[in-house]
Amino acid sequence: MTYLKTTAEFYSEVAQTPQVGLCCVQSSPLRLPGLSIPEPMQQMNYGCGTTVHPAELTNEPTVLYVGVGGGLEALQFAYFSRRSGSVIAVEPVSAMREAATRNLELAAQENPWFNPSFVEIRDGDAFALPVPDASVDVVAQNCLFNIFEPDDLTKALKEAYRVLKPGGRLQMSDPIATRPIPVHLQQDERLRAMCLSGALTYEQYTQRIIDAGFGQVEIRARRPYRLLDRHTYYLEEDLLLESLDCVAFKVPIPEDGACIFTGKTAIYKGSEEFFDDSAGHVLQRGVPAVVCDKTAAKLGKSRPEDVIITDSTWHYVGGGCC
Ligand SMILES: C[S@@+](CC[C@H](N)C(=O)[O-])C[C@H]1O[C@@H](n2cnc3c(N)ncnc32)[C@H](O)[C@@H]1O
Repeated sequence: MTYLKTTAEFYSEVAQTPQVGLCCVQSSPLRLPGLSIPEPMQQMNYGCGTTVHPAELTNEPTVLYVGVGGGLEALQFAYFSRRSGSVIAVEPVSAMREAATRNLELAAQENPWFNPSFVEIRDGDAFALPVPDASVDVVAQNCLFNIFEPDDLTKALKEAYRVLKPGGRLQMSDPIATRPIPVHLQQDERLRAMCLSGALTYEQYTQRIIDAGFGQVEIRARRPYRLLDRHTYYLEEDLLLESLDCVAFKVPIPEDGACIFTGKTAIYKGSEEFFDDSAGHVLQRGVPAVVCDKTAAKLGKSRPEDVIITDSTWHYVGGGCC
């Protein structure tokens, strides 16, 4: 368990002395009308994407946020729920809990709508979330699960699954690797803590999510994150890391496998007005129909002459084929 201790020590350091740009990508944090983000909170943006998807945050959901960091995303979630305890932020590092508390107090001074009671910061960790089974609508984590070794990642994913209500959503952002990260880097605990060497490949990462029980995964964004160059990191070739934003749904896994949506569509170009695959997919001629990757593969194989499958856009929001 030493890497978890190293991780805790690292985040204790960066809670006390913010490390600007530690994990962040070159995009400014989500701006919302009437939301002011205090400067110290912004400096502690240690996320590699976003887990806050505004269109889905209606009806004041209860959000469990794992690994609060400086509190930026907890504040953004609170923007939508605006009630006491609507965001439960779990954080094992005391210096980080203190920093987030300070930052949220500053946020209350800058945002008339915000009350620090909206975010309840609790001591705890991703492997034993301090809430009952099936009690929250959303679990979110940004740039934390990639740090975990694979068995710990599975534990954390199963724990998120446990606390979500049926139909609830796990909203995540993490680095992924474009090829497996060599062992000498994986074993470097400090690089792992810095979100630079624990990443799995896209296939490994999504498979772990499905193995934890999630029946549907939607990819919201995929973009370059960091380059591990061969000289600095003792590699045979440069290795590109990407960051992946996704949402996993606590819905049953269909008999023929989980649905992963990456933005593919199927377009029927045959001679009929419609094509019905007798498996729940009706394609209108010439009109792209959103399909999950499983259905895309099936249609592409069974109807190559009259169904075109478009590439993954890596940006998919809502709806679906199955
Ligand atoms: C890379 S930072 C991300 C912070 C925040 N999510 C953000 O986007 O700015 C990882 C956070 O997870 C916390 N953390 C570390 N180990 C953890 C664990 N086992 N369970 C929950 N949180 C943990 C760290 O202290 C830190 O606050």
